[in-house]
Amino acid sequence: MKTELGAKNCLYPMPTTLIGATVDGSPNFITIAHVGIMDLGDVSLGMAKTHHTNRGIKDHKTFSVNVPSTAQIKETDYCGLVSGKRANKAGLFDVFYGTLKTAPMIAECPINMECKLVKTVDFPKHDVFVGEIIATYADDSVLTDGIVDFAKVQPILFTMPDQGYWKLGEKFAKAWSIGKDLIKG
Ligand SMILES: Cc1cc2nc3c(=O)[nH]c(=O)nc-3n(C[C@H](O)[C@H](O)[C@H](O)COP(=O)(O)O)c2cc1C
Repeated sequence: MKTELGAKNCLYPMPTTLIGATVDGSPNFITIAHVGIMDLGDVSLGMAKTHHTNRGIKDHKTFSVNVPSTAQIKETDYCGLVSGKRANKAGLFDVFYGTLKTAPMIAECPINMECKLVKTVDFPKHDVFVGEIIATYADDSVLTDGIVDFAKVQPILFTMPDQGYWKLGEKFAKAWSIGKDLIKG
């Protein structure tokens, strides 16, 4: 038996990210969990139009995606509680820049991607920003044989409607492999 819940989005958990943009000449960071992979080279962000950060993304056509680890949980939550309209959130972090000079990144986050805005989808209350990844930076400490090791990254996973933060569990199977047992013939 199943209970019909209505039209509820249950596509959780999602990775929690810190998106960086230059707003009015200053770096600002916003916590965003509604992120997506459009294809391997492009990401999407679902951001309410009321946020301070949206203007910076529209003005400069750049943003960064920073992946915090569980060690940055308080700073990550703070950037989702407080608006850059009222506080200098960038002061919490060691900020650096890559090739795009208007996509501020957070040194404390183990993974950083700088992105160029390629499309904005105009929903009634949200902007969906689609960005092409121009460069990715990773702390050496989260690499295993030169590849990002998410067990080392320790990303923060987010769930609605309980508003929970979760840790990554164990890897339990190999993709494009475990299902081969069901291929007949
Ligand atoms: C865990 C978490 C996830 C969030 N995810 C989103 C999101 O996906 N989209 C969104 O529009 N706001 C999201 N928010 C809300 C914004 O981060 C928050 O309103 C922020 O203070 C806006 O900052 P700004 O005004 O400096 O841009 C989230 C907040 C938290 C705590």
